[in-house]
Amino acid sequence: MLPQILKDKVDNVLYNVVDALDAGFSILDKDLNIVCANEKLSSILNLEYDPIGKTCREVYKCECKDNKYCSVFQALSSGKKQFCETQLITERGERRYIQNISTPLKDEKNGITHLLKLSIDVTAQEEKIHQLSLLRKLAELMQGTLQIDRLLHLILTCVTAGTALGFNRARLFLVDKERDIVYGKMAVGPSSLEEANRIWSEIAKKYEKLEDLIQASEDNYRDDTPLHMITRLMAYSLRDENEVIVSCVKNKKIIWERDAFHNPNIDKKFVNMIGANEFVCIPLIAKDETIGVICVDNLYSKKPIIEEHIQGLTTFANRAALAIENAAAYKILSEKVRQLEETQDRLIRSERLAVIGNMAAYVAHEIRNPLATIGGFARSILRASNQDDQIRQNAGIIVEEVSRLERILANIMDFSKPVESVKVASQINEILENICSLMDPYFKNGRIKLTKIFNSMIPKIIIDPTQIKQVFLNLIKNAVESMPGGGALTIETIVEDKHIKINITDTGEGMTAEIMQNIFVPFFTTKVDGTGVGLAVSHKIVDDHGGYIKVKSSLQEGTTFSIYLPI
Ligand SMILES: Nc1ncnc2c1ncn2[C@@H]1O[C@H](COP(=O)(O)OP(=O)(O)OP(=O)(O)O)[C@@H](O)[C@H]1O
Ligand SMILES: [Mg+2]
Repeated sequence: MLPQILKDKVDNVLYNVVDALDAGFSILDKDLNIVCANEKLSSILNLEYDPIGKTCREVYKCECKDNKYCSVFQALSSGKKQFCETQLITERGERRYIQNISTPLKDEKNGITHLLKLSIDVTAQEEKIHQLSLLRKLAELMQGTLQIDRLLHLILTCVTAGTALGFNRARLFLVDKERDIVYGKMAVGPSSLEEANRIWSEIAKKYEKLEDLIQASEDNYRDDTPLHMITRLMAYSLRDENEVIVSCVKNKKIIWERDAFHNPNIDKKFVNMIGANEFVCIPLIAKDETIGVICVDNLYSKKPIIEEHIQGLTTFANRAALAIENAAAYKILSEKVRQLEETQDRLIRSERLAVIGNMAAYVAHEIRNPLATIGGFARSILRASNQDDQIRQNAGIIVEEVSRLERILANIMDFSKPVESVKVASQINEILENICSLMDPYFKNGRIKLTKIFNSMIPKIIIDPTQIKQVFLNLIKNAVESMPGGGALTIETIVEDKHIKINITDTGEGMTAEIMQNIFVPFFTTKVDGTGVGLAVSHKIVDDHGGYIKVKSSLQEGTTFSIYLPI
């Protein structure tokens, strides 16, 4: 036994040791109430109250659901020193990783009277390990994403995700070499402190895995947030090297601004747009060229940015730049492939049209004369046979059939003859009005209710009015023919981007997918007396005008043909 004076000394030394410890220190009684704690414990756990008298669970807020993983319970039941690592969310909503060592304190009879709990904050190390593995996962995710907008959003989500790089807000700027500018493309982050607090506590509780967070953020992706919209307004000429973003692009160096509000060298307008006193701009460099800039800040948490965070961001930015470059190259490539396919399609179509046209012209020409002769003879038989009913009836059928064949022939020859187009400035609404009044009796006969929705603002366009009229006639005729029992026909003119769009909608029988695939093939028809040239000709005419046709159809509901003519 130590003499009292020595004991006091030891106590004193112990107190000092406990206070100097770089770990949280607490002593618990057997009911797990805290009876003694040092200051460090309060700072690790962000406590805003005195922990003494509170229960262990209340103060430590451990997330372990089962007592068997809790070092305190283990130490109490086994009587031996125990280790555990826990995660907890502090009062301020921060995630902490704590290593705990619980040691039973025993009396002379070896009975446990108290527990000593040492808590070491390993958040920094854990986050680093976590971050590295996340960055690796991220790189994989990025390489697999070729859709550029999805990829950009993914990048910004990772920059702001607490589990990854954890900046409050991130904006992405992209270089547009053609326009010689760098412009704000996208931004991710809360728009106010309240929103920030709400999101962070939600995220900290809900999403431990980055994949979950990414999924959630994709599902909640919004491009109407104030931050995003302000960022979209930002654009700078690449020649203006005084601009922060431009200088980051040009010098390919990180810009770490710690006191923007008082820095006379930064453009005030830019600082106002960013709104944060401290921010970092990181160039996105791919193949030695800056393709964009990521600008981050911690406006809401006010957490100072540290070297380590920037290192993480730089590693990430390099990978992100490569992924963006890949996705952009892929976009250009797929656009080129699409153009190529379209050209090939057009070539095949016009080639096929030309071949069929020539053949049709030849056949039609060969048939026309004998057909005229047959028709002539049949008519004379018809005239001569006044008594014999059977002969008269047969001759009548021949005359009728011949004139049907002649009509088809005229159609075919129309289709195959080369047309000289005469293009003049014309008003589409007028052409349509004209056709509608011409076809009025036809509509009435077929019990068709016509609705015209003409946009009076559509400009005149340069077209061959005779040819375009032919297109409208073909499509309207088809629409009426698809509604043998009557129905509704709607003709609408719309200005869409750089086109005039004419919708011709019927409530007819519609088409199957198989029919839709063939409708523009010359001589394809599903009608008993159809020639199958109406749509092939219409397609060619619209094509020659630099336009295109789209079709939407559903069986028993109806069809809409949309003709797009360039303005
Ligand atoms: N509005 C429509 N509703 C349903 N099917 C349609 C419609 N328009 C076209 N089709 C289908 O497309 C086919 C081809 O149309 P196209 O106008 O080229 O030839 P057609 O009408 O059969 O004959 P033609 O126009 O030469 O007298 C039609 O036979 C029909 O099956
Ligand atoms: Mg037709």
